[in-house]
Amino acid sequence: MSSKIYIETYGCQMNFADTEIVLGILKNKGYSVAKTAEEADLILLNTCSIRDNAEQRIYGRLGNLKNLKIKKPDLLLGILGCMAERLKKDLIEEKKIVDLVVGPDEYRRLPEYIDIAFSGEKGIGVRLSRTETYDDIEPYREEGLSAWISVMRGCDKFCSFCVVPFTRGRERSRSLNSVVQEIESLSKRGFKEVTLLGQNVNSYRDDENDFADLLEACAMVDRSIRIRFTTSHPQDLSDKLLYTIANNPNICNYIHLPVQSGSNRILELMNRTYTIEHYLNLIEKARKIIPGVSFSTDIIAGFPTETQEDHLATLEVMKIVRYDGAYMFKYSPREGTKAYKMGDDIPDEIKTKRLQEIIDLQQKISYEKNQELIGNEEIVLVEGFSRKSNDFFSGRTDTNKVVVFPVQTDVKAGDYVKVKINKATSATLFGDFIEHYSIENEKTLKCL
Ligand code: 5AD
Ligand code: SF4
Repeated sequence: MSSKIYIETYGCQMNFADTEIVLGILKNKGYSVAKTAEEADLILLNTCSIRDNAEQRIYGRLGNLKNLKIKKPDLLLGILGCMAERLKKDLIEEKKIVDLVVGPDEYRRLPEYIDIAFSGEKGIGVRLSRTETYDDIEPYREEGLSAWISVMRGCDKFCSFCVVPFTRGRERSRSLNSVVQEIESLSKRGFKEVTLLGQNVNSYRDDENDFADLLEACAMVDRSIRIRFTTSHPQDLSDKLLYTIANNPNICNYIHLPVQSGSNRILELMNRTYTIEHYLNLIEKARKIIPGVSFSTDIIAGFPTETQEDHLATLEVMKIVRYDGAYMFKYSPREGTKAYKMGDDIPDEIKTKRLQEIIDLQQKISYEKNQELIGNEEIVLVEGFSRKSNDFFSGRTDTNKVVVFPVQTDVKAGDYVKVKINKATSATLFGDFIEHYSIENEKTLKCL
């Protein structure tokens, strides 16, 4: 009987996409996938190191799994992803918790390492690669509407707070053709939304093709598939990309553009390589080229040496841009990064207070922006029943806002519909179904 493997995934969307690649590799080699941790012979955790609390959560989970191992002594445990890279042998030699440690560029050899682990040795593969993109691996995906596709791996930006360049290595891109082929096959399976992933997608390059070329090629595959992408770095977001978004009706009017801080002094210490003036100009330009574009961002509170004035500058930028959404974090020192050497001088109470002010402001802005949409007609891709009730459907606008409306007999998941918004909270829009809609017939360009 073949061994059964269970994978739990933590962290960013990149990790979720990697888990699908790992499942693709394992299924090819004849391993079967367990539905629950209890029935597995090997449990793999695909891990995240971005902040200390992410790692602590995974250590907590390993603690639980050790109990399962007491009941089932043959059970093996393994670590994939960023923690495998950051902590390497420490997990095996000092902590003695796991049997297998395999980093993000070694998944192709995972079956070998698994065999080593089953034979009683420790399987360790933590080398980073300058070329591995898993271009030829077909990820294993359940049926659904939305798919993630990683189009590039690694990051060369070296923001001073960030561990990613160390855990995921140097930037490298997949071929444009293989990404297009993957979308063709998703189209045949009825997928309706594809998100192109990379730590810094704007650095994508395949011969003469840049990210805008890739995005357009993806959008042309099937006009009824919405194309999203993340993450963009403010230094590299080109005018060509903005025009590409504007000119393709099925590329979503939504840009995730992390600002991190509103203070030029802090941005420089962060090695973000742009000024806040550049950032705000970019937002203004994007809003001219792509009418109705929405923005989300990432913000860090309490970076080393951050003063109250720096913090107020961040709040000010939020008020100027009026983001549709934000991912907001307390600074977490990561060993090996440049910022680690700057110390962690902002006391936790101050970090917490600043973060709370950032969250409160964003909630207020999101609420106000959503109120402004009352009375509008929005195009929604229906995802299924709403989380709270089977009497309601839930879906998203192309600007990534959740819309909830009463169930209609002739509407199903995967349909595009027009909904008139009649109520809004900071997180959700509510409305009434008007009619079906086909985005592929949108002839009008979004800009001139
Ligand atoms: N502490 C807090 N937040 C961090 N991020 C990355 N590294 C850290 C850190 N050390 C945040 C950044 C990044 C997002 C993915 O995570 O905002 O854009
Ligand atoms: Fe980390 Fe900066 Fe690269 Fe994003 S761009 S992954 S924050 S180093």
